[in-house]
Amino acid sequence: MIAERAAPTSPAETPSARFVPADGTGIARIVIDRPDDAVNSVDVRLLDDLMHAIAAARSARPRGLVIASGKADQFMAGADLSLLRGASQQDAERASRRMQEVLEELAALPFTTVAAINGPALGGGFELALACDRRVMADTPNARVGLTEVRLGLIPAAGGTQRLVRLIGLPRALDLILGARQLTPKRALRAGVVDEVVHPAVLLRATGEVALTGGKASARGGRTAIERAITWLAPLRAVALSQARKRTLAETRGFYPAPLRAIDAVAAGLSRGMAAGLEEESRAFGELATSQTGRNLTSLLVRTLRQRRAAFEGLGAARPVGRVGVVGLGFMGSGIAQSAAVAGMTVRARDRDAAAVAKGISSIRKLTTEAARKGAIERREATRVTGRVSGGPDLAGFRHADLVIEAVFEEIGAKRAVISELEAVLRADAVIASNTSALPIGEIARGARHPERIVGMHFFSPVHKMPLIEVVRPAGADPDAVATAVATAVAFGKTPIVVGDGPGFYTTRVLSTMIADAFALVGEGVAIEAIDRAMTEFGWPVGPLQLVDEVGLEVAAHAGETIAKARRMDGPGIVASLADEGFRGKARGGGFYLYEGRKRTANPRVYAILGVTPRATTGGIAGRLTTTFVREAQRCLEEGILRSADEGDLGAVLGLGFPPFLGGPFTYARERGIS
Ligand code: NAI
Repeated sequence: MIAERAAPTSPAETPSARFVPADGTGIARIVIDRPDDAVNSVDVRLLDDLMHAIAAARSARPRGLVIASGKADQFMAGADLSLLRGASQQDAERASRRMQEVLEELAALPFTTVAAINGPALGGGFELALACDRRVMADTPNARVGLTEVRLGLIPAAGGTQRLVRLIGLPRALDLILGARQLTPKRALRAGVVDEVVHPAVLLRATGEVALTGGKASARGGRTAIERAITWLAPLRAVALSQARKRTLAETRGFYPAPLRAIDAVAAGLSRGMAAGLEEESRAFGELATSQTGRNLTSLLVRTLRQRRAAFEGLGAARPVGRVGVVGLGFMGSGIAQSAAVAGMTVRARDRDAAAVAKGISSIRKLTTEAARKGAIERREATRVTGRVSGGPDLAGFRHADLVIEAVFEEIGAKRAVISELEAVLRADAVIASNTSALPIGEIARGARHPERIVGMHFFSPVHKMPLIEVVRPAGADPDAVATAVATAVAFGKTPIVVGDGPGFYTTRVLSTMIADAFALVGEGVAIEAIDRAMTEFGWPVGPLQLVDEVGLEVAAHAGETIAKARRMDGPGIVASLADEGFRGKARGGGFYLYEGRKRTANPRVYAILGVTPRATTGGIAGRLTTTFVREAQRCLEEGILRSADEGDLGAVLGLGFPPFLGGPFTYARERGIS
């Protein structure tokens, strides 16, 4: 992983990497432990100290060498991203060369070297492990290996694209690099990227044994004959590379150059040798790190990491949350309950009757099984996760809850009724969070006995995948209650933004405003498909009209009306008319499109209702809609709904699919002078 420098510098004399001479068994160690950083991210000093330690090891001539981390449950992260900020292309290229040089020295040692992976080893951390002859990984819940750079618009540039291919062959290596995949210990073993997985208590002993018996690495290029053939035989390799390029182009739609450059580096190394491959790696790294896309993506990551702490600014003290209540175990509620259980919390859920509860629990089970199948959690852990959730048709068990999330129908009467029932049983210090998508929290809380403990926690769907939670802080909210909601969001592994109260808060408001402008375009006679196509070609994940069909027309109409009413504008009339005619969305009779199997066509009723003849022009559409989005975001900042432009960028990218390579609405506005 590439990381951001955490703490201020501490004593300059303590090295970031030190050589520990051989013990009785003949095994020496290099211990990496940056004194001023929690995750051992790579900076200039760490590389210098590592180079010295390698030189010391070379002259000491031990029987074997173990590379270990001095951090309790962290092996090593990637480059310290703060160093890339403002760096020139040459600087970035030089940084990559320097790390390559150090790892080449390590790889060239005449005795067996083994990495003791005791926690996350992502990006540059995994490249270090790959430069060792062998790798042993501790079986801990947080241990992961992977080359995750392409997600940041970069490529592995310390030999990662070269060594991984030589270790496991072209097909699997490309899959890991292009997918930026992170592997749990078991999956890492199965993929052949580590030699052994052991209990954390015996990691160092096991690593030492492997150093004595493992021998130097050889470039096998895959486990099976087919993998090796594809890796080493030029004609077969050419086919595999060209297929990978085609797939990548289709997936990235030309917006993200990094995966293609990673393929280039792999190709160069296999056809022209390691030195050429390394050369290609560092050249690509220099270009990508200083490109606008690279800068926007790394900046988003830095801001996301920082947000986990920054979100607490100006709030009170968070209370611990071990027990969570969920009211309404429907689509969102079951996702929320499952995420809480994955985070280790005990969950008590309530829905209207036993059948609804059973349905919710069954989807929690399904989500958890799926997570285990995909390797996101271990199978043993999956059983524990479902064991943490129980439910019933009443509020039994809720008096122990530290925080309750309500996810019942989007109807203010229903939400108020739930709150009044909750207030009768909850502890005085328990927090109530509403997952409404648009209703102002202040209105939901009106009439409550203790409105100050009622906040918003707006999740995004599907909950297990979407990384954002919008925490809504109504006027008069208890600062400790808001902090508790933020801490819970962080415990869920999500990024929280804290926004002011109002119809649609920030995210639903900007999205609905943009969608309303898309309706206006249809009213001006622009074809439905033309609008959606223009937006996906611009980099949005789905077009606005397709999105309305997917969330359902009644839901979209409700959100649109809530916001329109508050801003004294017309509501989305076209959606209401369509819904009245029985067009309720993709799964329910169609909407802006009619669906027939996999095919979809624009719904002619839309044009008939609006009295327009559609034109298929796409010029200027995406720019206009994106600008509408950006302007509304700017209004949210001016009105104090948003605390900062950073939170506005994160909310839009992580919650709404604003194209990440553009860096978010505020970054986009700054670059294009939109004010
Ligand atoms: P849903 O219809 O799937 O689930 C609602 C659940 O609440 C149902 O299981 C229903 O039986 C239960 N329920 C209704 N009244 C109840 C009561 N008095 N006590 C206990 N349970 C009760 O709806 P969905 O989509 O999960 O939405 C729930 C909330 O989440 C809404 O406020 C919605 O606006 C919000 N939301 C929805 C998103 C989405 O994409 N669907 C995204 C973000 C928020």
